[in-house]
Amino acid sequence: MPAADALVLFGVTGDLARKMILPALYRLTERGELSVPVIGVARTDWDSDALRKHVGESVRAALPDVDDVVLERLQRAVHVVAGDYGDPTTFDRLATTLREQAGAEAFVVHYLAVPPGLFGTVADALAAVGLNAHARLVVEKPFGHDLASARALNAQLRRNFDDDRLFRVDHYLGQEPVEDLLVLRFANTVIEPLWNRTWIDHIDITMAEDFDVADRGSFYDAVGTVRDVVQNHLLQVLAYLTMEAPQSDSAEDQRDAKHRLLQAVRAVDPAEVVRGQYTGYRDVPGVAADSTTETYVALTLHIDDDRFTGVPVHIRAGKALPETVLDLVVVLRSPPRPLFHGAVQDPPPNRIRLRLQPDAGVTFYLLAKQPGSGDIATELPVSVDFREVLGPVHAAYERIFADALTGNPAHFARMDTLEEAWRVVEPILDPGTAPLPYAPGTWGPT
Ligand code: BG6
Repeated sequence: MPAADALVLFGVTGDLARKMILPALYRLTERGELSVPVIGVARTDWDSDALRKHVGESVRAALPDVDDVVLERLQRAVHVVAGDYGDPTTFDRLATTLREQAGAEAFVVHYLAVPPGLFGTVADALAAVGLNAHARLVVEKPFGHDLASARALNAQLRRNFDDDRLFRVDHYLGQEPVEDLLVLRFANTVIEPLWNRTWIDHIDITMAEDFDVADRGSFYDAVGTVRDVVQNHLLQVLAYLTMEAPQSDSAEDQRDAKHRLLQAVRAVDPAEVVRGQYTGYRDVPGVAADSTTETYVALTLHIDDDRFTGVPVHIRAGKALPETVLDLVVVLRSPPRPLFHGAVQDPPPNRIRLRLQPDAGVTFYLLAKQPGSGDIATELPVSVDFREVLGPVHAAYERIFADALTGNPAHFARMDTLEEAWRVVEPILDPGTAPLPYAPGTWGPT
């Protein structure tokens, strides 16, 4: 995989760039992992100095510890190409800027942080000026609106980019704690032998966010919770949590194992879904007054493979909930005989809580005897916080960009896996019925 000689960032003036991408590029510059020219493309009248100022402001707003020398290094690397994505001359000017800044032979990474409706337009326009030949294309999510549109988008992009030159972003794949699931499972004999239908009763996955859709009304209303975070982020997390051990730690073996797992996940039964919408959502600018888009979903998944048949996986996700948390609770089966009893009720089953956000770590809930009596005490949490013990991790977008630049596909979604994920959620997309209302700050509908 060729490494990048230049990075082209479409959508450089957008929200994602301001909040996530530009701060990530600063960190990579700081670590010496980004030293190539960065060409920002946007529909704007900015010149390169205006973009450099924007880079400075975005980085300082996002990070507490900015070093002026590092920031200046990044700013000096930045150049702008302003113009409409539908205008071929924008791409002529991009080609000229690339030649000037990186040379005619440069291998270019094009990163598309633009609305998905523009992915195909930009890819075709790049090809029209030959900027696909020696290049990699990285596209943000969402990849498609359903299975058919994802396939159509892929076919359009594949006209100009080979599959190994096409990186599909799911930033959860760049999150250290998500990848850590594999290490926790397959490097620990205290966990892996339990990880199957013999010992696990069910699994509860919660992705809660304590904020609402804010200024993303028009994006969110066309999408909803299932498309926004279940089809992509949560099914990828599920795959890491439940897949078989990959043959090796290579990117392709890991992706093969994830694909096999998702193949085994049954399409969701609409009868096993609860959809919610927080009150006040319809007043958000960009949201239809009669919107039936869900801002909350709870559903049950079934994995039809040897390891997990009969173990339901409950997923719930939503906006405007009481806290921001992503955790996976694995509930084990109770011992075969109730030999001990609690003071009040039968002892609860053991649980293992894998916390991915905000404080990654793991908690084992163990039972122990209450001193002085024969009763089992309530659950005792035995917990480790990874950040406290192991130190901070790199942000997801730092890892995504580092990999996009070097050409490592490990943290990007493969098309076959993406197709399986669309198949799984397809029966519950756009049911057209009104979701149940819930008050912001509560745990969704009953
Ligand atoms: C994005 C969704 O993909 O992921 C957002 O569009 C969501 O709605 C976000 O809030 C969550 O990402 P993170 O990294 O903040 O957990």
